[in-house]
Amino acid sequence: MNKGNVISVDNLLGIKDLTAADINLILDTAVGFKDILQRPIKKVPTLRDTTIVNLFYENSTRTKISFELAEKRLGADIVNFAASSSSLKKGETLIDTVQNILSMKVDMVVMRHSASGAPHFLSNHIDAAIVNAGDGTNEHPTQALLDSFSMREAQGNLKGKKVAIIGDISHSRVALSNIFCLKKLGAKVVVCGPPTLIPKHIQSLGVDVSYNVQETLEWCDIANVLRIQLERQDMPLFSSLREYALQFGIDKKMLDGLKKEITLMHPGPINRGVELSSDAADSAHSIILDQVQNGVAVRMAVLFLLAQKNKSLADSLA
Ligand code: CP
Repeated sequence: MNKGNVISVDNLLGIKDLTAADINLILDTAVGFKDILQRPIKKVPTLRDTTIVNLFYENSTRTKISFELAEKRLGADIVNFAASSSSLKKGETLIDTVQNILSMKVDMVVMRHSASGAPHFLSNHIDAAIVNAGDGTNEHPTQALLDSFSMREAQGNLKGKKVAIIGDISHSRVALSNIFCLKKLGAKVVVCGPPTLIPKHIQSLGVDVSYNVQETLEWCDIANVLRIQLERQDMPLFSSLREYALQFGIDKKMLDGLKKEITLMHPGPINRGVELSSDAADSAHSIILDQVQNGVAVRMAVLFLLAQKNKSLADSLA
């Protein structure tokens, strides 16, 4: 485990803020934590003096459970906040909510919010370290880190690797965080989807654009397929899910027909029969459940490195 190094940021708000060295430090640290998770006793006391609140203002299955497990495996005390059963319903603001929670001596905040920039806004008002667990259509940094960790495990060093991100790029925080992460690690990135689901000027991020899924699959080593986010679309951006599935859906026959090794990924939740058929999602090409498993180790690494950074900062101020 790379305990000698210190991450450059005090909060994990986005991959945009990280250096390549930060990303490699997180991924290398996660390797050590993954080893610990294979042992009969999967806990270490690393964060036993740390209290973390999980503040989820938007639904989540994987990210919420993964952070909770990561925190418990590190021995932290944790508090779970669900917006649906909170005083938010009585009109309490985000800052008041968090200030009240922090007054109970909480050290770190893991936050998911439907508004892009919500964790950045909060970071200007509180001292506790913040980890962004997904903000609107902006970033989902720990998803990109676990994706890169899983890609590295499947295909080795990502420098020069060809990665395609296929699907609803416009509404995806996973796409943006993956693009930042992969470009910093030296991968070649193509985004693929219908023109209405690819932002104008996305090439300025150093990626190429394709509107042809078959050609994209032939080009890439790794295909990271994304969900159509109907809940974030104000107006129809394609004629029907059936037509989307016909033009951009991926099935096992397409993957087998490539006659090469290809790694298939998806951050979840999958719309089976839309962006991926069940036989593709469950095929030998797929590492989708490895991504979920790796999420715990990667989040342990993020929490550990931020706690270490903030402790060294506090020690230097004492
Ligand atoms: N990948 C992901 O963020 O899934 P959840 O929305 O279930 O957390």
